Amino acid sequence: MQKVDIKEELQYIEKVKEINQNRTLQYYILTMGCQLNENDSEKLSGMLEKMNYQKTEEMKEADLVLFNTCCVRENAEEKLFGKVGEVKKQKEEKGTIIAIGGCMMQEEHIVKKLKQSYPYVDIIFGTHTLHKLPKDLYKALEENKKIRDIIDIDGEIIEGLPISRNDHKKASVTIMNGCNNFCSYCIVPYVRGRERSREPKDILNEIKGLAKEGYKEITLLGQNVNSYLRVEREKKIEFEEYEGVNSFATLLRAVNNIEGIERIRFISPHPKDFTEDVIEAIRDCNKVCKLIHLPLQSGSSQVLKIMNRKYTKEQYLNLVERMKKTIPNVVFTTDIIVGFPGETEEDFEDTLEVVKQVKFEQVFMFIYSRRVGTPGDRMENQIPEEMKHKRFNRLKELVENQIAENNQTYLGTIQKVIVEGTSKNNEKMLTGRTDSNKVVIFEGKEELIGTMVQIKIVSEHMWYLKGKIEKGC
Ligand code: SAH
Ligand code: SF4
Ligand code: F3S
Repeated sequence: MQKVDIKEELQYIEKVKEINQNRTLQYYILTMGCQLNENDSEKLSGMLEKMNYQKTEEMKEADLVLFNTCCVRENAEEKLFGKVGEVKKQKEEKGTIIAIGGCMMQEEHIVKKLKQSYPYVDIIFGTHTLHKLPKDLYKALEENKKIRDIIDIDGEIIEGLPISRNDHKKASVTIMNGCNNFCSYCIVPYVRGRERSREPKDILNEIKGLAKEGYKEITLLGQNVNSYLRVEREKKIEFEEYEGVNSFATLLRAVNNIEGIERIRFISPHPKDFTEDVIEAIRDCNKVCKLIHLPLQSGSSQVLKIMNRKYTKEQYLNLVERMKKTIPNVVFTTDIIVGFPGETEEDFEDTLEVVKQVKFEQVFMFIYSRRVGTPGDRMENQIPEEMKHKRFNRLKELVENQIAENNQTYLGTIQKVIVEGTSKNNEKMLTGRTDSNKVVIFEGKEELIGTMVQIKIVSEHMWYLKGKIEKGC
């Protein structure tokens, strides 16, 4: 595997630290997009904190403002340009450094717009140059240069960056980067590069370290987690098998064996890569949550074909049935796009039908958004906005009714919950999540934070459940 040598970057961390010594500096970071971006932001924070910056939640107070961007849907663009405009005055008044990174910076037309309309931005970096932030920052501070550090490569693996995690009980661990699927609506393969996996040893050592630090829950991250190491196996790219890990299924089994970790989640798998060995590993591994995110996108075989999803409605439903047979009590969440080009009323009804059949725990619903450079954007039969919104609302109503119905089934049950902290709305109450990722609120002492408790569910509300700690635990 092609690992990047980051020795030079680590030296630049020391150089910037020296420039910043004896100063109290603050950074503000805004992360848009998915959990992969959140995980990248934890690495950016890790580097910044080593360079003497402390995190602030107030953009106005920051000496360095960093936006980690997403471009999967259009609305993020307006949000970014709004924020960059907002920070201009602050820069003029106190010289705040502005850095922008992430997926949107891999889009040429966006970088062009930034250069033209927001020339005061100090640093722009892409998804392949995140580790270069210390060097970019050094140049911005010492040489007062405007840095544009974006490359378009097929993807390398970066190990060994410092990390400052947002949570002390739950941790995300990226196991692979990039995507080779090229779904016709999606920009991700263009901005994140080709699929490549981390070495098993690096992942397992990271998780063992997290377990030692007291982390209880691990989420394995990637755009296509269940094809972990597939490209490497197919293209005979060398990797070192470690503790028997040479696939996603064996990785799940190895993580399940790590002492101290109590819960394992993963996101996002692709339905086409759910091989039997993965399904069996989920069944056999007691720590792996029996809540599977299984992105549907559309329930119409015709639309799925044009989306390039590589499965039909029937194959999807078949997979759900196979999983239900093999894994006791398995439940599902999904992603759905409404209003893809050419979607007819019948196609949309197919989507509603799949939703009715599978009864998802949660559905993440998106209105189709045209992305420059994708095949979907070039299709002529775009759906009018009004129609997209109408369909979206119909789907939303169905999903909300189903969630309300599903919540009823929790009443009286005992659920395992990892206590995450006090409730935001009521400090006297504790909050945590069930295996199926439902928020549960209950009374209890703060010492319980970070432990796993058994909760009896006593009432249900749309987006959370209320419970009582079971006697005897
Ligand atoms: N790799 C993951 C998810 C990537 S993006 C997967 O395949 O599931 C997260 C979700 O955003 C996708 O599942 C999809 O539902 C949605 N999405 C992606 N591109 C979109 C677009 N152009 N318009 C609307 N939603 C989109
Ligand atoms: Fe996008 Fe499809 Fe890749 Fe997911 S699998 S990131 S939706 S191209
Ligand atoms: Fe967005 Fe990039 Fe994730 S485009 S969804 S932040 S991979």
